[in-house]
Amino acid sequence: MPDSSELLALCKRRGFIWPSFEVYGGVAGMFDYGPLGCTLKNNIINVWRSIYKGEEKFVEIDSETISPRDVFKASGHIDGFSDLITYCQKCHTPFRADHLVEKFCKNPDKLSPGELEGLFAEHNVKCPECDGDLGQISEFNLMFKTSIGPGSIREGYLRPETAQGIFVNYLNLYRYNREKLPFGVIQIGKSYRNEIAPRQGMMRMREFNQMEAELFIDPEDKNWSKFKEIENEKLNLIPNTTLELTTITVGEAVERGVIANQVLAYFVYVTKRFLTTIGIDSDKLRFREHEKDEMAHYATDCWDAEVLLSYGWIEIVGIADRGCWDLSRHAKFSGQDMTYFRKYNSPKEVDITRIKAKNRAIGLKFKERAKDVMTEIESLKPENIKNGRITVSVGNETIELNEEFFEVILTKEKVTGDRIIPHVIEPSHGLDRILYSTLEHAYERDNEENRTILHFMPTVAPIKVGVFPLMEKDGLDKVAYKIYSDICSSGIEAYYDSSGTIGKRYARMDEIGTPWCITVDYETIEDKSNKETVTIRDRDTKEQKRIEIKSIKEILGRLLNNAKFASL
Ligand code: GLY
Repeated sequence: MPDSSELLALCKRRGFIWPSFEVYGGVAGMFDYGPLGCTLKNNIINVWRSIYKGEEKFVEIDSETISPRDVFKASGHIDGFSDLITYCQKCHTPFRADHLVEKFCKNPDKLSPGELEGLFAEHNVKCPECDGDLGQISEFNLMFKTSIGPGSIREGYLRPETAQGIFVNYLNLYRYNREKLPFGVIQIGKSYRNEIAPRQGMMRMREFNQMEAELFIDPEDKNWSKFKEIENEKLNLIPNTTLELTTITVGEAVERGVIANQVLAYFVYVTKRFLTTIGIDSDKLRFREHEKDEMAHYATDCWDAEVLLSYGWIEIVGIADRGCWDLSRHAKFSGQDMTYFRKYNSPKEVDITRIKAKNRAIGLKFKERAKDVMTEIESLKPENIKNGRITVSVGNETIELNEEFFEVILTKEKVTGDRIIPHVIEPSHGLDRILYSTLEHAYERDNEENRTILHFMPTVAPIKVGVFPLMEKDGLDKVAYKIYSDICSSGIEAYYDSSGTIGKRYARMDEIGTPWCITVDYETIEDKSNKETVTIRDRDTKEQKRIEIKSIKEILGRLLNNAKFASL
């Protein structure tokens, strides 16, 4: 396991990740991606997109990162998205209250303010910075607040998850999908959480990247057509019923009720496939089900993909069954109908209670307005009756009516379907944590050879090939530079390096995870057989082969398509 500070130092030195605003002293929980980090991030996104958009046929949207208050009032984030905070009374440093009792308690993030204050008193907990007394514990909402437009009339918030941008567009997406379920939507972008005291490097960032997928499905049909294809694949699972690691197939997990349904299990497997494709070590990957008191306010079930890092087991993806929480809440708060019309195979006869107008009494009282009053009465539902009375609006007038004018009747009617609120299955990926995990799992330090290697999967490696002239003279450099330019023009990331010994150049490429290096040497220009050849070296085995210049692009294409170096 690499030391995280060693790895972060490499990332900084080689242009993967830089602490943000370092020239001004830096800000905790904020990082920038340098050229190699940015390419690595884009490569990971491309793999993810190829799975969700390419294979699973989800559609992609890009919504605003600032939303008006109503959105997060409906989503529950205004009321329920907070951590517990305490301030030192002497130096005024803020602390996450649960962090201060980690030594005394196993799951402090589940404790109430009263329970935490009890532990503070029992263990005489003081400010870790200055030993001052700690103040009262209160809730701290993690959203960044702003205002939309000048002044403070329109409160806005930076989104804490990309998901809400999809939910508020549900009606547009439903129409786009020709009003059919299921359909899936992805969004990749920034989210923001004003963490009280970020720690563990990139594990808790205040501004971070998410890749979220929201699958809208019929709540009574959580089977999945592609389930059969993957039911024999194995998963490492920790269910919340036993809290013990079990390795079983996806099929067994659903059959035994370990994972609630096919669709949730399918996306747990898709997550495993994505993570291992980008280089996460499958022996250091497990799926842990949230305990009941750990679940987010919107989730009815949730499985976290956790990876083993130098920080311990860390959640990098959450696959949640959000039920109908989000759409019901947005329907309620916006007044819009967010139901889906589920057509029956054949019409059904059902008992329906309805309000019926008493025509004679209404005719006598309302004369020429009687027809409008009747129509209004019959548009109401029995639940609109309050204390035996209903209220209708006719023209500009509001009229209250007692049971002299209406009755509740039971009728049998033929219905062709019903309206339901879709459920949502959400695989939500923390891109920055995933990226950092690929770095840790790729890292190798060879002290004997004084060499550091990042064993990136070729698909995500930021630079695919280094190109070197053995010497920067005798025309070797010109040939090498031409090869480098041709590779770049074909859309493959390459790096030209002509300085230092060849050994040093290989070492520099190994350290940034470049899978192959090409060297132009004297044989290239002196070969009398009219074949211009170069060497190509494999990062992981250090094996070298001689290949023709004219086949470089074709060979790189094969290697990038998972051909074995030994087979060249
Ligand atoms: N959408 C889930 C999360 O942001 O945690």
